[in-house]
This record gives sequence, structure tokens and C-alpha cells, in this order.
Amino acid sequence: MSHGLVTMSYIVAMILFILSLSGLSNQETARKGNYYGMFGMVIAIVATALSAKIWSYEILIITLLIGGLIGTKAALKVEMTQMPELVAIMHSLVGLAAVLVGYSSFLEQQGSLFLDHGEGLNTEQMIHRIEICLGVFIGAMTFSGSVIAFGKLSGKISGKPLLLPARHWLNLGLLLSTILFLYLLLDVTDCFLLCNASYDPRLTYLMIITGIALLFGIHMVMAIGGADMPVVVSMLNSYSGWAAAATGFMLSNDLLIVTGALVGSSGAILSYIMCRAINRHFLSVIAGGFGTASGGKAAEIVGDVQSITVEETAQLLLSAKNIMIIPGYGMAVAQAQHTVYEMTKLLRGKGKKVGFGIHPVAGRMPGHMNVLLAEAKVPYDIVYEMDEINDDWGEVDVSIVIGANDIVNPSALTNPNSPIAGMPVIECWKGETTIVMKRSMASGYAGVGNPLFVMENTRMLFGDANATLQAVLKALNG
Ligand code: TAP
Repeated sequence: MSHGLVTMSYIVAMILFILSLSGLSNQETARKGNYYGMFGMVIAIVATALSAKIWSYEILIITLLIGGLIGTKAALKVEMTQMPELVAIMHSLVGLAAVLVGYSSFLEQQGSLFLDHGEGLNTEQMIHRIEICLGVFIGAMTFSGSVIAFGKLSGKISGKPLLLPARHWLNLGLLLSTILFLYLLLDVTDCFLLCNASYDPRLTYLMIITGIALLFGIHMVMAIGGADMPVVVSMLNSYSGWAAAATGFMLSNDLLIVTGALVGSSGAILSYIMCRAINRHFLSVIAGGFGTASGGKAAEIVGDVQSITVEETAQLLLSAKNIMIIPGYGMAVAQAQHTVYEMTKLLRGKGKKVGFGIHPVAGRMPGHMNVLLAEAKVPYDIVYEMDEINDDWGEVDVSIVIGANDIVNPSALTNPNSPIAGMPVIECWKGETTIVMKRSMASGYAGVGNPLFVMENTRMLFGDANATLQAVLKALNG
């Protein structure tokens, strides 16, 4: 394929990726956005494969087949609730790829330096070496951070923040050591490379930088508490983009640079949105352990729990005019979205006003609830964001909390010691009656007790959300 045609294909792919991102920013155009992205990726892969730089087509085809097979199998098998873990592990692969490309570029450059009989690094080589170091550092940090995020999101690692003593000093020490080893890697006055061809300490320096970056990623994500995990997910998303951009620099591939920058910056914007959603400063989340440094305690629940039966729930819904449904992670676990929509259709058919209130960090990934509701074909115009509904609770007769916990926890507003203190929540308790559907009194992801469950106007409907909703639907029909 000629160079011009490759460049042309890359430009088309870039435009498709931009259209994809803009499509994904709105649920009504998200499907189209996905198609643009897929189409752009096919063009990018074909153009890259047909460009002159491919070393072995056999290896390329075999790796494409293996990767495609694993990806297809994972996508077909993964449950909707496991999607955030899958995304986290995918980010780790982008990081790993950046590290491997970095090592390969480094070894290639070292080889050519030896051939030049060790004349040291010229400016261009030095810039390339900085690119390599940055790529390896960001890649290794993304890799280890994403693996830890995977562990935390899948429950294999505790969501509690690991707060090492003097952890900020530790981070600073790691950063300074990285700068030192980067300096050593670039130091052209050093004559190890020139005098002693059998031992090149620079590879060791790069390995040390990799080790530090791996530690940095582990430490950073381990120190972040459960309630701050939404920011981590979007932040790792952003890092994986920058890792890809760094890979693009190492390989001199413009498409990879632009695509990486697109992912990196959109991930950064998402991190900002997530920080706003949970009322945190980005730096305090990264520093870790927010809200727990003061030894914050979970809110104690004092009071009596009032349960409600399926029949009583149906009666309450039939007598209500304005109903608000608040879905959370439990709806995803129970896969109750289709039954919820069946019930919504029935109630709307009876002249009730029914809406859905979505918290920005409900579930385990950005937009988790919107995806589930869209899958069940819930019309977009009855799905509201938290900010759109929090002032109108006076008009709501019944709210139904389906498998949500942290996002409706009043202690976020009332207990300054709570790990979720300051996080805006859906203030459903300000409505007339709240029905909470969950299986037990267990806490949510942040591990915090929820005083909503014992409030005067709250009724607990215990059981699996889908089974309970089906029973309510039957009672409403009967
Ligand atoms: P959670 O606070 O995690 O609460 C979910 C509740 O669902 C649990 O208390 C659980 O109680 C219940 N549940 C589980 N399975 C159920 C089932 N089959 N039927 C009925 N109920 C079930 O969820 P949330 O309110 O959506 O809040 C999200 C939390 O995740 C926040 O802390 C957020 O910071 C964090 N987080 C979010 C993200 C993103 S990006 N959205 C990423 C990482 C972490 P039972 O066990 O008693 O049933």
C-alpha cells in the first residue's frame, strides 16, 4: 500500500474515532458511535497491516486470530455485571503492550548504538529514549494499576484503602528515583556503553524504572477507597490512552498517537466528571484514602426496620400518582431491568407518572444503569439524572430503590466522618414513601451502613430484585 494511501486511511480512521466518541456521549447516538469506532478500527488495522513496515505476515495473522478469538470469547461470555472488570483488564493489556514495545524499541536503539561504535546519543536518539522511558513508565503503571483495579472490582481484593505510613513520602521517593534513573539512562558521558560491551547497565536502569512504575501503579490503586473507585476506572482509562500515544511515538505511528491522545483526554474529562459526581478533588483521590485519614467510621444504623410485603407494595404503587425508580448495582446483579420495564409499562398504562433517577456512579462503571435501561428499551425521556430530580422529591409519592445502597445513603450528607462524606446522593427519603428492594441489610460497595433503611417513611422489601419485581408485577396484574 502506498504511503499516501496509508496516510489517507489513517485520516479516515481518525475522523471515525472522533465521530465515535461524539456518538458515545449521548445514549440515543451511542449505538451509532460504536459502529463508527468498529469501522474506524477495521480501517486502521487493515492500513497498518498493508503498510510496508510489517515484518512477518504469518505472525501478524496468527496473533490477530488468537487475539480476536480470545476477545470474542470473553465478550460472549462476560456477564453485564463483570463488564467493569473486563474493561479494567483490557486497560492492563494496553499498558503491557506499551511496555513491550518500549523494550523492543530500546533494544533496537541500543543495537544501533553498538553498531555506531558507541558514539553516544544524539539529540534525536535522546528524544526517542525519553519517549521510550515515558512509554514504559506509563505503560507499567497502567498495567499494575489496572490489575489491582480488576481485583478490587471483582471483589478478589478488598475495597478498603491500604494506607501505608508515610505513603506520600513513598510516592515522592519513587518519583525522584525514576527521575534519577531516567537521567542515568540519558547520560552520554557515562562510558559503560562505550567501554564494556558485555555489560550495559542501561537495560538494568530501564528495568528499575519499570519496577518503580509497577510499584507506583499498585500503591496508587491500593490506597484508593471503594467509594472513590469510579475515578480510578476513568483515570486508568485515561492512562491507557496516554500509554497508547507513547507507543505511537515509539513506533512513529501518527494514528496511534492521535487515537491514544483521544482516549487519554476523554478519560481525563470523564475523571473530572466522576470527581464532580462524587464531590472530590482529583488530587485527593490520587493521593488515596480520602475520607478515611481521620479514622472515619461507617454510620451506625439505629432504629427499627419496617418490612413490606409484595401485596402491600402493589397497593402502594396503585395508589400513587408519581413514582420514581432508582436503580443501583443490585439491579445489574439480578438482571431485573426487563421486569422493571414491564412494571413501568403497566403503571404508565394505568395513568401513573413513572421516571428513573440515575446517580452518576450507580453500578460499577460510568453509564452502567443507562446501558441496562437502554437494553430493556426504557424510553430515554423518562430517565433523569440525579441533578434533574433532587429538587422535586416533594412531588414524589413512592420511590423504589432497586439494589442501590451507597447512592441513596443520607449519611453522605450528614456524617462528616463517613468514607462517602460529601458525595451527592439521590435524596429519595424526601419523597412520601421509599421502598428499598435488596436481599439483606448488607452494606454497599463503600462498606458503609445506610440509615435510609430505618427511616420512618422507608419500607424494606427483601429478596432478589428480579424475583421480587416479578411477584410485584403479578400482584399488580392480579
Ligand atoms: P452498592 O452501594 O454497591 O449497593 C448495591 C446493593 O445491591 C447492595 O447493598 C446489595 O445488597 C444489593 N444487591 C446485590 N445483589 C442484589 C440482588 N440480586 N437483588 C437485590 N439487591 C441486590 O451500589 P450502588 O448504590 O449502585 O452504588 C455504587 C457504588 O459502587 C458506589 O459506592 C460507587 O462509588 C461504587 N463504584 C462505582 C463505579 C462506577 S464508575 N459506577 C465504579 C466502581 C465503584 P444485598 O446484598 O443486601 O442484596
